[in-house]
Amino acid sequence: MILTVVGARPNFVKMAPIIHEINRRGLPQVFVHTGQHYDAKMSDVFFGELGMPRPDVYLGVGSGSHAEQTARVLLAFELVLLEHRPKLVVVAGDVNATLSCALTASKLGIPVAHVESGLRSFDREMPEEINRLLTDHISDLLFVTEPQGRVNLLREGIAPEKIHMVGNTMIDSLDTHLPAALARRPWEAFGLEAGGYGLVTLHRPSNVDDEAGLREILGALETVGKRWPLLFPAHPRTAKRMADWGLQPEGLRVVEPLGYLDFLGLMAKARLVLTDSGGIQEETTALGVPCITIRENTERPVTMDEGTNQLVGTKRENIEAAAWRAESAVPSGTRPALWDGKAAVRVVDILGDWIKDLRS
Ligand code: UD1
Repeated sequence: MILTVVGARPNFVKMAPIIHEINRRGLPQVFVHTGQHYDAKMSDVFFGELGMPRPDVYLGVGSGSHAEQTARVLLAFELVLLEHRPKLVVVAGDVNATLSCALTASKLGIPVAHVESGLRSFDREMPEEINRLLTDHISDLLFVTEPQGRVNLLREGIAPEKIHMVGNTMIDSLDTHLPAALARRPWEAFGLEAGGYGLVTLHRPSNVDDEAGLREILGALETVGKRWPLLFPAHPRTAKRMADWGLQPEGLRVVEPLGYLDFLGLMAKARLVLTDSGGIQEETTALGVPCITIRENTERPVTMDEGTNQLVGTKRENIEAAAWRAESAVPSGTRPALWDGKAAVRVVDILGDWIKDLRS
């Protein structure tokens, strides 16, 4: 039996196509949600819209410090593994649930497959970088989304036969759901015109947990907001910080987190996207929409080399200049290799073969 696990919002989008493909082939599967994200808007809506089954096991670990989140999953997930004894545990991405579940499984001698392996920002202050590094080094199958992922893993001494370039399962979800997302015309609900607005997300601790830094970024958004209306579905962390510090920038329409389909539809028709997310850099590249990444580094260099992404840092004037550049020259990016909507099929082909070999 294969055990698949998710914990937080970006996991749902990356894992849904794999869960569907395992079920389509009738392979035995147990599906676990750790509950790192638990709000209706951060979790339930994604399950509904992505057509994911109800988890067989819900751990309900919730929020907390990194140690609390990790430790709660270690304790709870070990019991799940002891009960179900899977042949393989599949984790995705770089959130705390990814590392905790990989660690629990590997300590019990259960093989681990990591989807979206090999990405590196080379910034160890990012909690995700620690999660990526450690998960990759205790995984047995490493599924890579872009060529640099393989380069990074080989440089770290990972055996080449463990590494499989499969493409990007998040783009499988995008291709599957884009028609439904566009049919909803979500921009109209906000009084926006297709192609005439900007979409903003910000949630990295390094950007939103420091008042001066957040003020600097919001200042830039205020300026850009004079040129295009900006819609900002705010992550709960960011909404809390802005409320605490009384930040209400003009021209920036702050709304609650959106579901997958509304956000995807809004992204597809945006004039530009300003973000510090990892996944959104990839989704905008797949959609051919200009993306301004408000960070000092990216673990997804293919989105800059081949896609529509500009990495601009966090200084006000650089963010503003990038927005004006995006206005004058729409980047003509291409889709990276194997971002073709079939990554999950490749993943499950490899998982299936691997499990067969275990039996014999
Ligand atoms: C996590 C991931 C990050 C990912 C992001 C996507 C880690 C280390 N980080 O960050 O990589 O980009 O998810 O959203 O795993 N909260 C709620 N409701 C929820 C969940 C969280 O209100 O359903 C609030 C809580 O106040 C919580 C805070 O958000 O303390 C942060 O949540 P947490 O899961 O710790 O990290 P994220 O910032 O969401």
